[in-house]
Amino acid sequence: MSEMLFESPAELAAYAAGRVAELCQKAVAEKGGCHLVLAGGTTPRLCYELLRQMPLPWASLHIWFGDERCLPVGDAERNDTMADAALLRHVPIPAAQIHRMSAEEGPESAAAAYAALLAAAPVMDIVLLGMGEDGHTASLFPANPALTDVRLAVPVYNSPKPPAERVSMGYTALNAARHRILMVTGKGKADALARIRAGERLPIAAIADGEWLMDRAAMGSTD
Ligand code: 6PG
Repeated sequence: MSEMLFESPAELAAYAAGRVAELCQKAVAEKGGCHLVLAGGTTPRLCYELLRQMPLPWASLHIWFGDERCLPVGDAERNDTMADAALLRHVPIPAAQIHRMSAEEGPESAAAAYAALLAAAPVMDIVLLGMGEDGHTASLFPANPALTDVRLAVPVYNSPKPPAERVSMGYTALNAARHRILMVTGKGKADALARIRAGERLPIAAIADGEWLMDRAAMGSTD
């Protein structure tokens, strides 16, 4: 586990984009390809917008999603809709290498389909993750049965963050990846971060060996 502190979300996003680019180029140089798992929510958007300006070996990238919201295809609130707008629409990644979650089909069927895709895929190279104010990550929420589901992709019900039904990569897939980068910004996250640093096992705390990127506001610093 490593921690880095940044003055602002913009500085954090710039570092994160550079780090992802570095790891992508390394994976492509070593193995001929890179499997990158995108985070949802709002925090990673700036990182994606910076990443699209970088000369990455886009044709050698495979894109996966850490979680998705069970909404119709193209819905503005879907994580892949955000990723399309901020990154995927702007870079030449072959459509067949963008592995969307079929969350529109509902949690069970989408999770089963994605788990099958993941089982046939190599280990993920890079996983990007955000954190919610309750310490959730991807769609792994406190006290939710999805936390103990060992499948590669898991159905999620009763999410406290709308929509209630989601699909998430499980800890099994997330912790098997080569690198995990956790991006946490804003004062709304300070309470959960303090609880985690005090040893509370909030869902994100079960992410193994993460590169924690945090801004001053999330660390509770007001100056
Ligand atoms: C989602 C996300 C979720 C997100 C956190 C943080 O679908 O909502 O995958 O895990 O990363 O809730 O969200 P923000 O970045 O918007 O604060």
